[in-house]
Amino acid sequence: MSNISVEIINQLNDNYSYLIFSNTSSSCILIDPADHKKILPIIKKKKLKIDYIFITHHHSDHTSGVPGLLKEYPKARLYSPSKLFSLEIRNISDGDIIKTSLNEFKVLSTPGHTLDHIVLIDQENKFLFAGDVLFRLGCGRIFEGSIEQMHNSLNKLFDLSNEMNVYCGHEYTLNNLKFLQHIFVGNNNLENGKKHIMEDLANKKRTIPFRLGDEKKLNPFLNPGCEIASKLKKKYNYSNLDIFRYLRKKKDNF
Ligand SMILES: [Fe+2]
Repeated sequence: MSNISVEIINQLNDNYSYLIFSNTSSSCILIDPADHKKILPIIKKKKLKIDYIFITHHHSDHTSGVPGLLKEYPKARLYSPSKLFSLEIRNISDGDIIKTSLNEFKVLSTPGHTLDHIVLIDQENKFLFAGDVLFRLGCGRIFEGSIEQMHNSLNKLFDLSNEMNVYCGHEYTLNNLKFLQHIFVGNNNLENGKKHIMEDLANKKRTIPFRLGDEKKLNPFLNPGCEIASKLKKKYNYSNLDIFRYLRKKKDNF
């Protein structure tokens, strides 16, 4: 069940799709494919076959690659929390455990960005595939759910192990950092966080994956009780939900 790797595949402008594979098997898993033309050459080069496709939510920048992949690998099992084109899906919902030939995923319902949104947790390998719920230093926009739903969904992620490596749906980190430094001017923790982000960009040209434990200290969307938001909390006597609402509204207009 172990020794699996995640390859991050750039998609569209700033999306990521994730390929999970092992050196001991030809089987692989694809998460949120948007552009099959960028994915297929990687699969072929590694001599893999796609046996599983998982979708975190219905937005086209997470799903549009599915038909092209299924054309090439028609036996792949497609797991999705809601209908997808007119394809045959295996519906996944909160609490489901999916055993693949490579690993095991637990499904957690995380509505807010969309109502169907789920995240995938691989406890053994410490992977969290977070779709558009949690980004590094930010969170997804609320398109279909309520502020309360999104806040609850982020609380569910907050409760997961600090050791989780988060793989999210977009590279939005620099913009998120800019927003937080605009709101929390001169915050030392943010300045330190910036150093790590710049190192990641210099070394890997991306800021994904990131550790959930680090994010709990720095991301006030994930943890409105973190140090960064403490002055705001005191000034207005805000609850955690109030802080989340305040920041999400500000970010929507940033
Ligand atoms: Fe989305």
